[in-house]
Amino acid sequence: MTAANSAATRPDRTTARVRLRPTMTSDLEFVLSLEQDQENLAFITPWERTQHEAAIRFPDFRHFIIEGGQALNAVGFLILIGCRSQNQSLELKRMVVQAKGSGFGRAALRVAKKVAFDDLGAHRFWLDVKARNSRAKALYDSEGFVVEGELREALKVEGGFESLIVMSMLRPEFTGRRSLGLEVHA
Ligand SMILES: CC(C)(COP(=O)(O)OP(=O)(O)OC[C@H]1O[C@@H](n2cnc3c(N)ncnc32)[C@H](O)[C@@H]1OP(=O)(O)O)[C@@H](O)C(=O)NCCC(=O)NCCS
Repeated sequence: MTAANSAATRPDRTTARVRLRPTMTSDLEFVLSLEQDQENLAFITPWERTQHEAAIRFPDFRHFIIEGGQALNAVGFLILIGCRSQNQSLELKRMVVQAKGSGFGRAALRVAKKVAFDDLGAHRFWLDVKARNSRAKALYDSEGFVVEGELREALKVEGGFESLIVMSMLRPEFTGRRSLGLEVHA
């Protein structure tokens, strides 16, 4: 990062304003275009439109548009899976933010944790992240997710295989963070 792009000049990440709203079919062009963006393709496995349409409808899924900034425009999307899980184990299946490094990802992740634990009754909130996705991994680390392990070379990609890191947060960990003021209020 150059001096001109330092913490002093970039938007205040800790106060980025976001909210989540359910994704509508009319949002899917935006969602698909984000998935197909070269910057994101390296870190996710894009879905077909029909998979997103199903995720909007299925009760076990929650598909959200991330709205952010002063005008609360669409700035990204995220998908939760396992919302009806008997094991109360929910997965953050995917999170993509268009304008990176502005704090929208962290703010959206905090709202997603609140939705998972407060609204959907999660006991465990988990995700996997490509081992070389250092930006996302740093975000999950700093938001209190604990590394469970590595799925070694679990993904076949062009030119070889990639490993996935599985990370999770348990309800007592979330509650503990909240009591320290590290999470969105109940
Ligand atoms: C991962 C992603 C959702 C994070 O959202 P974001 O808005 O860019 O992240 P934030 O601005 O909230 O930054 C959160 C943290 O990420 C890390 N980070 C941000 N930019 C970084 C960079 N260029 N290099 C390394 N880490 C970086 C930092 O730890 C940062 O914390 P800080 O504010 O204390 O410095 C977003 O970058 C994205 O959409 N990436 C492509 C898709 C993807 O990888 N999705 C996750 C799949 S598991």
